[in-house]
Amino acid sequence: LVPPGGGGGGAGVTARDALGADVMAAKWIAANPYPGRALVEGLKGDAHYLIVKEDKTLYDFAINAVCTHLGCVVPFNRAQLKYICPCHGSQYDFNGKVIRGPAPLSLALAHVNDVDGKVVLSPWTETDFRTDLAPWWK
Ligand code: FES
Repeated sequence: LVPPGGGGGGAGVTARDALGADVMAAKWIAANPYPGRALVEGLKGDAHYLIVKEDKTLYDFAINAVCTHLGCVVPFNRAQLKYICPCHGSQYDFNGKVIRGPAPLSLALAHVNDVDGKVVLSPWTETDFRTDLAPWWK
């Protein structure tokens, strides 16, 4: 048995949709085609974006939607390909890296794995590939 996580430490949780049901990868991808990004409930109950690629697969990381300023859930702006917080205007690029304050930090990451067809999120404990820094959310 290979535990989910793709290198991440800690336990994974199955992503849940708005109705609380387990998120099935194939169904989710069909319902949320590129370039859309939709939210699931993931680690710690936080809203996370699953990212569907043009080739109809999921990125192996999810982006935690909780703004690092004061915690608003940040919507993805499809036209501008970035996340723009409605509360105080912080902006994050398409990978969730902060590009405009007042948010002090980039959006947190989580690993995404397909486990028997279900989407499982697990803690991202490695270096943040966007900043080359240790993950602040660890
Ligand atoms: Fe997002 Fe303040 S909570 S900018």
